[in-house]
Amino acid sequence: MNKNIRWHHATVTRQDREKLNGHRSFILWFTGLSGAGKSTLAHRVEELLFLRGCRTFVFDGDNVRHGLCSDLGFGSKDRHENIRRIGEMSKLFIEAGVIALTAFISPFRSDRDMVRSLVDDGDFIEIFCDTPLDVCEQRDVKGLYQKARRGEIKDFTGISSPYEAPENPEIIVKTGSEPLDECARQILDYLEKNEKITLVPESEQRWERIRED
Ligand code: ADX
Repeated sequence: MNKNIRWHHATVTRQDREKLNGHRSFILWFTGLSGAGKSTLAHRVEELLFLRGCRTFVFDGDNVRHGLCSDLGFGSKDRHENIRRIGEMSKLFIEAGVIALTAFISPFRSDRDMVRSLVDDGDFIEIFCDTPLDVCEQRDVKGLYQKARRGEIKDFTGISSPYEAPENPEIIVKTGSEPLDECARQILDYLEKNEKITLVPESEQRWERIRED
């Protein structure tokens, strides 16, 4: 890090933004094999949160790899960099008071744990989309498993590159067998139980003081 770079503290804080929005900000980190249903579920959860008036944004692996991460491939070093960038980006979004939903295979435990360590306790909610490989391969929505089996794609997760399932995720959803809305409900229930979408922190007194100055 360049020593001539200094952190500038915002005067409008994350707590202020959370108060304005009426909900906490946090990261919903969906992980699982390609074709497990991460993006579909993340978008469904986003719809439900949006209907409740929450500020949300979905980052999707395939989309982000068209832009921000278009320079990256699928070797472990590039996947690490992919997740690092998304982690930092999600951290900025929670500072902005937004609920960040991320749908990336993120196959390596150490990379997911690195993102967890970037943010405060409780801000990183890991959701394991637990669809078995044979189900993903049978679905093969993008035809990529077939290509990987034929050796036309190298380093393909589940075939020629490992997937390390989370050991202690906050939520496990059976995206291979349970209906979409059942999985979405499970996530909303978790957020309600943990007071993520009902609680509004107070920051009014601070603003009273600023107004009086
Ligand atoms: S990650 O491993 O770096 O987290 P990411 O979620 O961004 O992966 O991208 C995964 C998507 O890229 C898959 O859903 C699939 O459509 C596509 N893809 C292309 N090549 C590969 C590959 N070798 N391994 C996994 N996914 C691939």
